[in-house]
Amino acid sequence: MSTNTTPHNHSITRQMRNELNGHASKVIWFTGLSGSGKSTLADALERHLHKEGFRTYILDGDNVRSGLNSDLDFSEAGRIENIRRIGEVAHLMVDAGLVVLSAFISPFAKDRQRVKEIVGPDHFIEVFVDCPLEICEQRDVKGLYAKARAGEIKNFTGIDSPFEPPNTPDVYVNTHEQTLQECLTQLILNVKCKM
Ligand code: ADX
Repeated sequence: MSTNTTPHNHSITRQMRNELNGHASKVIWFTGLSGSGKSTLADALERHLHKEGFRTYILDGDNVRSGLNSDLDFSEAGRIENIRRIGEVAHLMVDAGLVVLSAFISPFAKDRQRVKEIVGPDHFIEVFVDCPLEICEQRDVKGLYAKARAGEIKNFTGIDSPFEPPNTPDVYVNTHEQTLQECLTQLILNVKCKM
């Protein structure tokens, strides 16, 4: 616990940074199974926004877990702490004026709700990247589902660790039934009207 600390109100505010940038700051939070297409979509959306002059940054599961969160495992407690820290980092980035695109499985509804509270509900856009488990398993881009089925990886989301889908996401895409371009077009339309 941090004690005896006093937050300082700095003179340059988020609103001033937003004005300088010419756009609001947001967190676009992609949630979904491993292999559902979160990172691919976040990457495509970032390229689009970047081209349009938005100041963006991607926070991605495999990247953040190799640095800031390299001390965390995939137990329930590890995942809770993973998402809590990312929520705090996203909050700082929103304060810094950025549009943050985050791609984490974030399997627990309670943790996603907590991030929404940390960054502020007005700054949070939840995107559910839906894809049936069988399809993610067939894709098995990283070969991890095969390892999980063989018992070489424990607590694998969708196999022996749960995923709680959002009931009312701000944006819903289905990467099994829609093409990448269709998902992207839908994302752009939905995200732009919230910016
Ligand atoms: S989360 O559940 O804590 O949100 P996060 O998005 O950071 O997960 O990391 C998921 C990525 O870690 C997966 O895409 C996969 O590459 C890798 N990974 C390694 N072990 C596991 C596991 N047991 N369950 C899910 N993903 C895993």
